[in-house]
Amino acid sequence: MCGIVGYLGDKQAYPILLKGLKRLEYRGYDSAGVALQMEDGIRLIKCKGKVSNLEELVAGEELKATAGIGHTRWATHGPPNDVNAHPHFSESEELCIIHNGIIENYASLKNELINRGYDFKSDTDTEVLVNLIQEVHKSTGTELFESIRIALNEVVGAYAIVVLNKLKPNELIAAKMGSPLVVGIGEDHEFFFASDATPIIEYTKNVVYLEDGEIASVSKDNGLRIKTIKNKDITPYIQELEMNLETLELGGYPHFMLKEINEQPKSVLDSMRGRVDLLSGKIVLGGFVEHEQRIRNAERIIIVACGTSWHAGLVAEYLIEDVARVPVEVEYASEFRYRNPVITEKDVVVAISQSGETADTLAAIKMAKEKGALIYGVCNVIGSSIPRETHSGSYTHAGPEIGVASTKAFTAQLTVLTLMALSIGYSRGTISKGKLQRILVELEQIPKKLEEVLKTDEQVRYIASIYKDARNMLYLGRGVNFPVALEGALKLKEISYIHAEGYPAAEMKHGPIALIDEEMPVIVIATKDSSYEKVVSNIQEVKARGGKIIAIVTEGDTQVKAMADHSIEIPETIDILVPFLSVVPLQLLSYHIAVMRGCNVDQPRNLAKSVTVE
Ligand code: G6P
Repeated sequence: MCGIVGYLGDKQAYPILLKGLKRLEYRGYDSAGVALQMEDGIRLIKCKGKVSNLEELVAGEELKATAGIGHTRWATHGPPNDVNAHPHFSESEELCIIHNGIIENYASLKNELINRGYDFKSDTDTEVLVNLIQEVHKSTGTELFESIRIALNEVVGAYAIVVLNKLKPNELIAAKMGSPLVVGIGEDHEFFFASDATPIIEYTKNVVYLEDGEIASVSKDNGLRIKTIKNKDITPYIQELEMNLETLELGGYPHFMLKEINEQPKSVLDSMRGRVDLLSGKIVLGGFVEHEQRIRNAERIIIVACGTSWHAGLVAEYLIEDVARVPVEVEYASEFRYRNPVITEKDVVVAISQSGETADTLAAIKMAKEKGALIYGVCNVIGSSIPRETHSGSYTHAGPEIGVASTKAFTAQLTVLTLMALSIGYSRGTISKGKLQRILVELEQIPKKLEEVLKTDEQVRYIASIYKDARNMLYLGRGVNFPVALEGALKLKEISYIHAEGYPAAEMKHGPIALIDEEMPVIVIATKDSSYEKVVSNIQEVKARGGKIIAIVTEGDTQVKAMADHSIEIPETIDILVPFLSVVPLQLLSYHIAVMRGCNVDQPRNLAKSVTVE
């Protein structure tokens, strides 16, 4: 978490940094700050709160500088306050640093520095790092680039850093280990650093994604130079960005979350585009084709992910086991990595991640890779860390997702995972060509059906107005709709702070039924699929205890509609594709409830979109 940005060029740095921080604010918004190379030295401005608070702090001031760094924070060490906000000066105020990540051995480094006479103003690990660099710089007399290299060899943990040097105003030095860092290369020795490409895209499409263990310096005199911390020269590999600017703007919507919910017909289509030939019933997933034999012969598929991506993994478990008949295990990456799990060369590990940066997922796949498994990534952010760590994979083409609550990334993940399940099934001969074609024809209809579901918005808003003050909500579903129930509950709690739980409908009897009374809205996904009759019984059990039912039903349903207090109709589709449609009213419900409760929908408290710490 935390977003970092740096600029060096001929333009005014402050507005570029400020805009960049706004684009990166999804990564954390506890505090914000900038450090600018002004004529009379480095000017440090920082405060608790959002980037807009920082902006207000210096409103009307002319901040003339053509180099600077900026940071938006998700607190790890020390509470979010003005002092702990980044950037941080070294003790001599010669160096100034921004940092995303965690220095694990900061306590012992700090003690050593205290013994050498250093004083610390903040509680952060970052201030330890900048003073360590200063100490090495002073004691070795080496150039700053070399001092940073030496210092980083002493550091254990994750970091993306950018350092300003008061004595060399025309240079920025950055380094990366574990946390992401992109270098943008403009014209005439103009350079950018950022946690992702979104602050850069407006100025240049040419970028270099730094690898772990690399240090980069940019200067007006020498351009871009990269070395590893082991002192090996690296030739920069310049890539062209495919992103476009409109995808980063609100485009008339009041919130990114609503925009992204509404983008789903397109993002599902984009995730399918060029991969499906309906006439021949062929699926071409590049990453799959490359490793077809190994995936076909896998004895087990292990899916690792966190949050919403983990829910997509649970849906994939049903899909893959159903059509490909391979055992699937779905694991929280954070648990998996610390459990000494049994992994063999016959396993295929699928890592699902919107950001491609989630620290636990990244660590889990590194571990599985060492044990010989084939690692397949399903990620959204092109060039992010997970796709670079995997053997193979398929991108979801959802476009940038900015709202912290994930929506379009989920349905894009389902798209790719469905294509993957079908490819494995066809390759293993567990699904006939006819069945494959029938599923593909249905899948192709999903974007149109999503348009239909989105038309329920007004109705969902009305239901939201009735239940917005609820203190608890229960979400029930069976089969593929059980992960959807989990996802619906997650959406509600993360943005509206209402306690919500997702449960397999039949499990309700083993606990949650005790909670049901007139005050408890129960959202039931009761679409016409193989478990319909069973879910009907579960609804009766809730009704018998006075619970209020909000049901997601298939168009034309009469039975559940007669029992439910409210029902939202979604178009019919085949069982395994229902989650694409059933999740959307739940996304809308949580969105409207959060707006009505006055919550910050796109930046809910304490959360961040990209969780780069474990
Ligand atoms: C955070 C985000 C969630 C996301 C999860 C996993 O918690 O707020 O929306 O589902 O991380 O992120 P990933 O980028 O790996 O999908």
